[in-house]
Amino acid sequence: MIDSTTKYGHFDNDNYEYVITSPFTPSPWINYLGNDGFHGLISNTGGGYTFFRDPKFRRLTRYRYNNVPVDTGGRYFYISDGDDAWSLAGRPMDTVLDNYECRHGMGYTRFTSNKNDIEAQATCFVPLHTTAEVYIVSLENKGAVNKQLNLFSFLEWCLWNAEDDATNFQRNLSTGEVEISGSTLFHKTEFRERRNHYAFYHVNRELAGFDTCRDSFLGPYRGMHNPIVVENKQANNSHAHGFAPIASHHLKIDLAPGEKTSLVFVMGYCELDQEDKWASPGVINKVPANELIARFSSTEKAQAALDELKLYWRELLNKCVVKTPDSAFDTSINIWNQYQNMVTFNLSRSASFYESGIGRGMGFRDSNQDTIGFTHMVPEKVRERILDLSATQKADGSAFHQYQPLTKKGNANIGGNFNDDPMWLVLSTCNYIKETGDFSILDELVPFNNDETNSGTHFEHLHRAFNHVVNNLGPHGLPLIGRADWNDCLNLNCFSTDPNESFQTTQRGASDVAESLMIAGQFVLYGEEFAILCEQTGHEELAVTCRKHIDKMREAVDKHGWDGEWFLRAYDAKGNKVGSVENPEGKIFIESQGFCVMAGLGHDNGRAALAMDAVAEHLVTDYGIMLQQPAFSEYDKYLGEISSYPPGYKENAGIFCHNNPWIIISEAMLNNPTRSLDYFSKLCPSYLQDKQALRRSEPYVYSQMVAGADSAMPGQAKNSWLTGTASWSYYAAVQYILGIRPEYEGLRIAPCIPSDWDGIHVKRQFRDAYYDISVVNKAENGINKINVLIDGEELADNIIPYAKYSGRHQVIVTLVS
Ligand code: BGC
Ligand code: NOJ
Repeated sequence: MIDSTTKYGHFDNDNYEYVITSPFTPSPWINYLGNDGFHGLISNTGGGYTFFRDPKFRRLTRYRYNNVPVDTGGRYFYISDGDDAWSLAGRPMDTVLDNYECRHGMGYTRFTSNKNDIEAQATCFVPLHTTAEVYIVSLENKGAVNKQLNLFSFLEWCLWNAEDDATNFQRNLSTGEVEISGSTLFHKTEFRERRNHYAFYHVNRELAGFDTCRDSFLGPYRGMHNPIVVENKQANNSHAHGFAPIASHHLKIDLAPGEKTSLVFVMGYCELDQEDKWASPGVINKVPANELIARFSSTEKAQAALDELKLYWRELLNKCVVKTPDSAFDTSINIWNQYQNMVTFNLSRSASFYESGIGRGMGFRDSNQDTIGFTHMVPEKVRERILDLSATQKADGSAFHQYQPLTKKGNANIGGNFNDDPMWLVLSTCNYIKETGDFSILDELVPFNNDETNSGTHFEHLHRAFNHVVNNLGPHGLPLIGRADWNDCLNLNCFSTDPNESFQTTQRGASDVAESLMIAGQFVLYGEEFAILCEQTGHEELAVTCRKHIDKMREAVDKHGWDGEWFLRAYDAKGNKVGSVENPEGKIFIESQGFCVMAGLGHDNGRAALAMDAVAEHLVTDYGIMLQQPAFSEYDKYLGEISSYPPGYKENAGIFCHNNPWIIISEAMLNNPTRSLDYFSKLCPSYLQDKQALRRSEPYVYSQMVAGADSAMPGQAKNSWLTGTASWSYYAAVQYILGIRPEYEGLRIAPCIPSDWDGIHVKRQFRDAYYDISVVNKAENGINKINVLIDGEELADNIIPYAKYSGRHQVIVTLVS
């Protein structure tokens, strides 16, 4: 039994850090280093791996997923003092430390540990604009006697292609190659043939020895928890040929009482032009490595790079700062949620401790949605991403479901036909333009399916996305679902009985019958966004045409999409209802309630309110809102993967966090601040600090899934970090609960906060303007009127017109009943 009260960490908001106080967290609690192509995953004991741009094709270090002991492989520092030895970050050696602390910060992680009067510290980060991880390591003798210490670094190289590395041993065990030059250990496997990149591991001190051969360092039948070299206190100076290459420096460090020393380790990646690869036959060109090393040749230089990184994050997080009466809300919104938004934006669903970095590229729908919590942070990157995504769209408006980050090409293995995909491009684009005012993105010429001979403006791409829905309607005039919609596991055309088939790519149904109410709501919502965009850009006629289609869709939903108390979820391949009271299981689903209500459907006739009441009655739990109920108790080939999961997990009635914000937004749109905030507080990690032991996953970021009421362990969270929950939660909280919402003309202020909040304060950079907004809540019976004073002048509406108010302004908002 777990002790549900155990805590393993807490927030340190002044330093933008989460402080972890035990190496033995319920699962590895990780952080991400790097935000510009070079990335590292780092756990609270230094576990994890590093890659350049593509975690499958450019993996630098090796990590063993799903291994025992859990979290094996990382950047390790072993310290030995006499007969004692320990790991600086608490693992992989079993030695118990006198004191341990891990601080995950914005793009860096710092370990501090004490043992045998030695205080050791390692600060790990990827400096800005750098293809290297840097570790500042210090050792201090806090005792009264001289210490003669041995310090061993350790990491294991991955042979670049992570999939091949984990499977193709008949080759791999013969390819490893290294070069040793002073204090730098180079990894050059496959450099002799087609690779023009190598990696290296350097320390800015003379070595007492080194190892590059794993077997030699660990010793026969040993593991990372008890390397023979550490036990012997002497490196073997091994040279890896063929067998698994590693990099380990051996340093002898003498410390008088009170003395402290500090070293800088650099693990870097270099690419060369084909003609510059070699310094001499068989000897790699080390010029770029030496340049990289020189940038961090002293602790001062490395520290300056760390300070620069910290400043970068301070400035980024200063673009939107909120203060509410609820400190948990502020902790998440001001720090960790935005940080997670950047990480998910960068990596989509590729590399986490649950996603192996091998299987999945950048998701089309995922990457579009990931922009909505990130555009205000780095809009230039969002612009580039939107255009990359647009270039993977096919000429018929459909989309590749994923693309590979190195090539930026659509991933043919998985293909397309997920019929919600196209319209997400409208969401990301409109959101980007509202934030930045940059309509020029619409005029960019973008190829279809990366074929330069067939291009159209980005606006044309959006138009084709819209038409793709119009051209793919089913018998009820509702959108055909294709392989699946947002719910990848609702595979209505798959009919699989073969366990060797993928639910994601198998299709047997004719695919012209099964329809999705989620896509119907999505089409009304983002179709209307497209129509508004048409008006904004002088395409009035097109707007009129689009609205005809949208109106028809509204009618189809009214006629065929309402089940009596909530919105239906779908029609299956035989035309039967899914998500209806008539079904024995899976009677009500969350997605269609969220999307139809967000789209404004049923607001005028009471259906929206009924749907939200049904969600409250059937789906809400203490830990969040479940995806559907009742859970499917048996596998049903006409439903697909959703029914493959045990009840309460993942899409089968788990709390699939990504869609909870849709309900939070819907409740805010219906003016129900209490429910909206209640749902938010059940979901948002900063509110759940007393549930660390139950939840198991990192208490500072969202997880994709929390086990639902039918599971064995309701409330347990899995698949942390890379989830659309991050951006959607931020978007829901800032744009709908706080109501600070970018629009084409300016920033709208429409809070939906509970009456016991006496006000909020928001500092928001918006394009070139900076608004300091104080909201006073005088509404005791619901917010019916919003008065806005800007620099003392009253506005006619609750929107700050940007054209008139660029620059810095004080805004005072009063909410009244
Ligand atoms: C998961 C989904 C995911 C899909 C595609 C399924 O196994 O349950 O959440 O979207 O795989 O990767
Ligand atoms: C995770 C996938 O990344 C996302 O695209 C999908 O919408 C959800 N799972 C729901 O199935």
